Amino acid sequence: MSDNVTPVTFPSSFLWGAATSAYQIEGAVREDGRTPSIWDTFSHTPGKTADGDTGDTAVDHYHRYREDVALMAELGLTAYRFSVSWPRVQPMGRGPAVQRGLDFYRRLVDELLAHGIKPAITLYHWDLPQELEDAGGWPQRDTAYRFAEYAQMVGEALGDRVEQWITLNEPWCSAFLGYGSGVHAPGRTDAVSALRAAHHLNLAHGLGTTALRSVMPARNTVAVSLNSSVVRTVSQEPADLAAARKIDDLANGVFHGPILHGAYPKTLLDSTAGLTDWSYVQAGDLKAIHQPLDALGLNYYHPALVSAASNADPDGPRADGHGASAYSPWPGADDVAFHQTPGEQTEMGWTVDPTGLHELLMRYSQEAPGLPLYVTENGAAYVDEPGPDGQVHDPERIAYLHGHLAAIRRAITDGADVRGYYLWSLMDNFEWAFGYAKRFGIVHVDYATLKRTPKASARWYGRAARTGELPP
Ligand code: NOJ
Repeated sequence: MSDNVTPVTFPSSFLWGAATSAYQIEGAVREDGRTPSIWDTFSHTPGKTADGDTGDTAVDHYHRYREDVALMAELGLTAYRFSVSWPRVQPMGRGPAVQRGLDFYRRLVDELLAHGIKPAITLYHWDLPQELEDAGGWPQRDTAYRFAEYAQMVGEALGDRVEQWITLNEPWCSAFLGYGSGVHAPGRTDAVSALRAAHHLNLAHGLGTTALRSVMPARNTVAVSLNSSVVRTVSQEPADLAAARKIDDLANGVFHGPILHGAYPKTLLDSTAGLTDWSYVQAGDLKAIHQPLDALGLNYYHPALVSAASNADPDGPRADGHGASAYSPWPGADDVAFHQTPGEQTEMGWTVDPTGLHELLMRYSQEAPGLPLYVTENGAAYVDEPGPDGQVHDPERIAYLHGHLAAIRRAITDGADVRGYYLWSLMDNFEWAFGYAKRFGIVHVDYATLKRTPKASARWYGRAARTGELPP
């Protein structure tokens, strides 16, 4: 454990990054040929987001990217992970690329490189072109083929200047919150559609990886970012352990299984057998998905605590941290109960527990030996407003970052090959169904003026990036 006295020092090659995604920051939703994504439709549907917030303007990064890159450079960041908006570069998800859309990303990348910041592109961070959803969305196999075509287009356009590529961001959310519990776009609530979506997202990852490699220089790397869960149980009783197994399969195994090992876990197939026969997994799919990766991206926020429903107080508090819905994002797991993990919580109600990050990194360094790991997201929402001095003091976020970065350092010491950290997020932004109410940024955004003000955590993190050591 860090004692805040012994310096916590990182390898000199460690990347100190921040992350964002297109729909959460860009705005300019009707400019330069962009067509609506499922998040435009969803956020404009009454009742789907807090206060009816939408990404129409977001933080106007589309027009202010130069200012944002300058800010990153001034802070001292060495890497930046952002996503490309599919409907901006291939409106409607089919047909030729729109150069004006691609030009935006070319300018952004050139600006980053000019400031010595290493870009990492995420190809899919949840903004499916609405037309593809109208044609069936992720539960339909064709969407995976469409994704591969789009990936190739972006690879052709930017592969000469971007080395780090990530196919999908948190496909669990796309599948299970988008099609299962419906708290994310497109807001469908059907367990089988969620499982079909998960498979087609896996297929999209595999086909997209192959497509990218067919057009990019060999030095470029391809990864996927998974929100792998750390699943803990309230006891070691067999029923609770079985509950944890189920959730671990639905959160982790459903993606890590085929991507890293070329198979869905048998226990997952068994626990969902009453819902689906998985016949949408066609011959050759698992081979297509199981492409050798250059790195694995892990997004971590908080651990989960489960028990068998029969071992839970029916009137007790419940929390799976993914938003309220009458529908479960966990197909076939109605017999599992989620509990609030004890300890301090962020504004999202997520428990602060850096030991979970260490656990996750050790797990995947053992499960995928030799594969470099990146923490492609980690961060916290707090109520941050400027004080009378105009500064935003966010000591809780600094403590959160310190704890989690120290956990990464411990994992490196324990043998995990962790190459970098992308803090979520560079700046306050559109937090999906929670709208602008939750602030994850190290840079504060005044939504009335769109003025950016680095919070104290931004200065703290910048110092860490510049010195390679965690400031006290
Ligand atoms: C995961 C997602 O990738 C990102 O878009 C989101 O804002 C953060 N977690 C925080 O919830």
